[in-house]
Amino acid sequence: MLLSEVTIREMVESDLPTVADLEGEEGAGGWTLAQLAAEFARPGGWRLVALDSSSGQVVSYIIGGQVLDEAEIFRLRVARDHRRRGIAAALLLGLEQLLRRRGVGRCFLEVRAGNQAALTLYAKAGFARRGLRRSYYRDPVDDAVIMQKTLSE
Ligand SMILES: CC(C)(COP(=O)(O)OP(=O)(O)OC[C@H]1O[C@@H](n2cnc3c(N)ncnc32)[C@H](O)[C@@H]1OP(=O)(O)O)[C@@H](O)C(=O)NCCC(=O)NCCS
Repeated sequence: MLLSEVTIREMVESDLPTVADLEGEEGAGGWTLAQLAAEFARPGGWRLVALDSSSGQVVSYIIGGQVLDEAEIFRLRVARDHRRRGIAAALLLGLEQLLRRRGVGRCFLEVRAGNQAALTLYAKAGFARRGLRRSYYRDPVDDAVIMQKTLSE
């Protein structure tokens, strides 16, 4: 992991247009700027971004929420040109530190059963499969794999 080439920090409001651009990178279904702004304003949420150290550009982000001692990952994306540099893995490590500080014991997520890249990423980061929601996603239809990581041990 070339961690020296990226900086991870909490998302700030001025990051939102870049995050919206990245959400739009793969067509329909991404969150709009308005949706991102609403999520940003919601109490109980957490968001991190990764900046490419040479350009200073936001190239990745992770967005989620917390209820009591449980957290859920809503969005995670790395800009196409910056994938396979260890950035998502680094963001998940940064997230884990943040969630432990906030007293979170378990972190959940849902991922398309056909998203092998994400399934491998999360498994490597210590998330285990906990269930399946049949035909949960549309365009295209796909099952949702529910994954969970326990942080309190
Ligand atoms: C999934 C995604 C976040 C991975 O980001 P990334 O920064 O490229 O991932 P990393 O470089 O940290 O990869 C860590 C490990 O995950 C696995 N992995 C990542 N991308 C993979 C791919 N395309 N195919 C197979 N394994 C992959 C590998 O095991 C990798 O380790 P390695 O490079 O040493 O083999 C990125 O591909 C992405 O943004 N995809 C579109 C959005 C998405 O699917 N988000 C997740 C939805 S829940």
